[in-house]
This record gives sequence, C-alpha cells and structure tokens, in this order.
Amino acid sequence: MAGSTFGKIWQFTSFGESHGAGIGVVIEGCPAGLVIDKIFIESELARRRPGQSAIVTQRKEPDTCEILSGTMDGISTGTPLAIWIANQNQKSKDYSHIADKYRPSHADYTYTAKYGIRDYRGGGRSSARETAARVAAGAIAKLLLKHLGVDITAYVSQVGHIIAPDVDNPTSEVIESNIVRCAHPQAAAEMEEYIKQIRKEGNTVGGLIRCVIKGTPVGLGEPVYDRLHADLGKAMLSINAVKGFDYGSGFDTVTMKGSEHNDAYYTDDHGKVKTSTNYSGGIQGGISNGMDIFFRVAFKPVATIMQDQSSVDETGNAVTVTGKGRHDPCVVPRAVPIVEAMAANVLADHLLRSKTNKLSDIIK
Ligand SMILES: Cc1cc2nc3c(=O)[nH]c(=O)nc-3n(C[C@H](O)[C@H](O)[C@H](O)COP(=O)(O)O)c2cc1C
Repeated sequence: MAGSTFGKIWQFTSFGESHGAGIGVVIEGCPAGLVIDKIFIESELARRRPGQSAIVTQRKEPDTCEILSGTMDGISTGTPLAIWIANQNQKSKDYSHIADKYRPSHADYTYTAKYGIRDYRGGGRSSARETAARVAAGAIAKLLLKHLGVDITAYVSQVGHIIAPDVDNPTSEVIESNIVRCAHPQAAAEMEEYIKQIRKEGNTVGGLIRCVIKGTPVGLGEPVYDRLHADLGKAMLSINAVKGFDYGSGFDTVTMKGSEHNDAYYTDDHGKVKTSTNYSGGIQGGISNGMDIFFRVAFKPVATIMQDQSSVDETGNAVTVTGKGRHDPCVVPRAVPIVEAMAANVLADHLLRSKTNKLSDIIK
C-alpha cells in the first residue's frame, strides 16, 4: 500500500493532490549543518512550474514554498525537514466531465479499480503536481552534493521525430536559454515550433531527456539489489509518463562486441584510475567508477488530448471522453528539473549510505 516514500537514508515522503490544499514533502536523513537555500529551492521549483512558457500547461502556480521544520537560521538541524507548496490555481470544475469516466491511458481506471474511490480533480494524486515535492527534496540533495563537486545536468535531446545533434558538455546557460530546455539552440527552435503545432492540433507528443552527472565519487551503489543504476532506473521510472530508461551504452549495447564495448583502464596524471571510453556510463557492478554517469529517460505523449476519444464509464457503459482543462502538449521541458531532482535524491542517498562502505570509513 505505502508507496510515497523514497530512499533509505536520504529519505523523503511526499503528500498532496493536484486540487487539494497543496503538495508537501518531509525529508529525513539530511545531515545537520547544511545551508538550506530557500531561493535555490524556489528557483528549481520555477523550472518545473506550470504556466512558465507558451508550450506548457497554462495553470498558473507561483510554486513558492514554505519551510515548516528542520532548520534554524537557514541551517539544517538534522531533524525532519518539511516543505509545503500551496496549490493556488485549481479549476476543479474543468474535470467534472470525467468524474465517472476513464481517460484513455491516464490513471483513472487503475486508481478506481485499486482504491474504489478516485479524486478526479486534476488527476488527484496521479497528477504530476506531486513532482513539485520531488523537486523540492532534490534541490536540497543538490545543495548537499555541491559540497562534493557533483554536478547534475539534464536536457531535452528529442521531441517526437526531432533529434537534437549531440552536444559535448552542454551548459545550463544554453539549456535554460530556450523554453524547450534543449542543449542545441537550432534543434530547440524546431522542437518549439513542433510542440506549438501539436498543441494547435489538440494533440500531445513524447520526448527524450538525457542526463549527465559529473564528479560522482568512486564507490556509490549497494550491490546487489540497490545497484546505483537500478536505483536511478527506479527513480526515473517512478516519474509520471516515463516509458523507458537506459544508461551508458544502454539498448545500443546489443549490437556491439565485447572488444568494442570494454572500457580500457588507464591511470591519469593525478594517479586516478580512469577509462578511455565510457560505455559503462560511469557504473560497473552497480558501483560508480568515478567517470561521468549518463542516462536517458523516455516520456510518452501524455494522455489528455483535446479530441473526442472512446472509453467507458465506471459502470462499463461506452462513453465519449472530451479533452478539457489546461494540459501539457509535451512534458519534457518541465520534466528536465524532475529528472535532475530524482537523480540528486538517488545520489544523496547513496552518498550517505557509502559512509559505511568499510571499517576504515567508520573508525578514523
Ligand atoms: C511534468 C509533467 C506534466 C504532465 N502533464 C500532464 C497533462 O497535462 N496531462 C496529462 O494527461 N498527463 C500529464 N502528465 C502525465 C500524467 O501525470 C501521467 O501520464 C498519468 O499520471 C498516468 O501515469 P503513467 O503515464 O505514468 O502511466 C504529466 C507528466 C509530467 C512529468
């Protein structure tokens, strides 16, 4: 039943619904002494916020947050950190037409079948509004990881059939300079036009996000069930509308030979063990090897389209579902900070867990 808590030591529990009073998160395991920069948390929330541009849902939420506990004078005290993000722009009557009908490929049928009751207003708990909680927790995880020089950058690499050319070391300045959050400005312009056209057609389109993590220390990841890539995969697949995850050479691996795929080791000028290629994606045996970690996350074209669709109601009668309300024609621009946040939550958890790797880590 319980499924709203994530992580082992860096552990957060989210609560709230799309059209309830708000969304909140309680984070446990944050070490005392961390500066909890509220401005940074809100800047991360702003990157996820609805209404931020012409190609996302027009629900207008300021997504400012309130830190209810766990800090004194802006510094974490080691006690549970609770953050509250109020809902301010719900329009619940936009959803009364689906109160007893199931939107195709949304969560309406499965929530009703499982719980026997469904908050149909804005999708209730199944709404991606919940991801604001993940972004708030992830912002604090990023503040922790910053002390170790860990840097997480995600960006849109594909929208529908438009694939952005590869970019080496994309900067957040370039990514945030366009409303698609693509690292390649020309591709971004093409993607933006395409999303606008899709919205005019009352349709939706999917996309791909790539994430690169630099500066991860060697030794994060807990074999065998909590391998680092397994936890990253779970984190990404727990995000609404995600259909796929791969890391390193991922699904391309199957066409390669071992002689092509093996990452040769060498020692760099500072005596550090490195690999000359990185098909492993920075993780071997479920443990980080110090190279860049990189992975991709595939998002579907979301369910709500402004077109009539056949479905059934709660009594099984055939009905027509009409698309109404404010929706995202393509979720990847808003999902970039969610992907980064979930990656930060996983790494913060594994960083804290790695403090018990060996006796010499405990007895100094
Ligand atoms: C940032 C973001 C925004 C979303 N916006 C919408 C939306 O406007 N309309 C919609 O039908 N689904 C939207 N979704 C997806 C739904 O929340 C999701 O498809 C639904 O809960 C069913 O879950 P599933 O697709 O993971 O099976 C969004 C997802 C994300 C990550």
